[in-house]
Amino acid sequence: MFSNRIMGVPKSFIREILKIAGDPHIISFAGGLPNGSLFPMEHLRAATERVFEKGEPGIMQYSNSEGYYPLREKIAERYRNSSNINVNPDTILITNGSQQGLDILGKVFINEGDDIIVEEPGYLGAIQAFATYSARFNAVPVNEEGIDLEKLEQTLKGTSSKLIYVVPNFQNPSGITYSNENRAAAAALIKEAGMYLVEDNPYGELRFAGTHKKSFFEFIPEQTILLGTISKTIAPSFRLGWIAAPDDVFEKLLVAKQAADLHTNYFSQRIVEEFLSDYSLDKHVEKIRIVYGEQKAAMIKAIEKYFPPEVTYTNPEGGMFIWGTLPKGLSATELFNRAVKKNVAFVPGDAFYVNKTDLNTFRLNYSNSDKESIEKGIEILGQCIRGML
Ligand SMILES: Cc1ncc(COP(=O)(O)O)c(C=O)c1O
Repeated sequence: MFSNRIMGVPKSFIREILKIAGDPHIISFAGGLPNGSLFPMEHLRAATERVFEKGEPGIMQYSNSEGYYPLREKIAERYRNSSNINVNPDTILITNGSQQGLDILGKVFINEGDDIIVEEPGYLGAIQAFATYSARFNAVPVNEEGIDLEKLEQTLKGTSSKLIYVVPNFQNPSGITYSNENRAAAAALIKEAGMYLVEDNPYGELRFAGTHKKSFFEFIPEQTILLGTISKTIAPSFRLGWIAAPDDVFEKLLVAKQAADLHTNYFSQRIVEEFLSDYSLDKHVEKIRIVYGEQKAAMIKAIEKYFPPEVTYTNPEGGMFIWGTLPKGLSATELFNRAVKKNVAFVPGDAFYVNKTDLNTFRLNYSNSDKESIEKGIEILGQCIRGML
């Protein structure tokens, strides 16, 4: 009955975990949810009212597939002002979240069995989206400096990959950020390989320490496809994201978008554009940075206090995740089973690898828990880890 394409794609393990983590008795470090107390509710309500007051029936009408032009202009302006990136609003396609951007990219680029390069560990949602098109994954490890350049070079030589997918800022799941040197060196290799690089950047604006890093677009603009979203800076429920792509790629993405859903929710686009006309996103993002910086510091402090010293972990300068590594031989899935019994959840590392299981790595989210829950949850996790040593 079902296509080979869908039979080969596993259910998202995280979505399954989130069902458990939704239980109010559980302290959950599992999801990748932004902190709901920071949603700009009042300003969004006011923007919605203004959109209605304008009174055009057009706000309820079908619209074009590219997206609402004033919103695309605002996105281009933000790239120019915050990152020195010059993208033409005409080649920005508004999508139903950046997750749809991944699906459309898969549809446009991947034939069954095509090689693509992904990070290890990497974003599960991208792995799932590309798996639907039966891609062959070539995983290149990431470390505290960025992508493993030697392994990248080997992989580029050994495959004819068309596409490499990276999350260079506060990566999901590891929280690491590529250094500028690492980006420059990786960009040189990719330039030579003549392939496209997809830079997915949902967390880049959420920097609470350290210095801004360059986009791959600044090194290889004609080969870089930018994915963006308002999910982590405004709110995910609008399902608003975008792809900024070179002209010829844009044309193909547009066809795929038309076939998928005609266009992204036009009413959402109008509200968000109105919201951005009246409210400083910079100021709003500043508030998020401060709160996430404090939540991260609380989690690191609790880890230092309660985890045995054999456990290593990343200390991100932004974003929403810390990546932990248990001593060799211990299984993070076993830790998950023990922790859930004590009402604490997180995501074991296995979900973020294309072909490895029973790993000793795990992801902790700090953006969606208050400081008391962070302290208590990490204390319980520490006890569970000690019980496994
Ligand atoms: C790296 C990465 N890309 C894309 C997404 C999907 O985001 P959106 O809400 O824009 O679809 C996420 C969500 O957590 C993510 O972490």
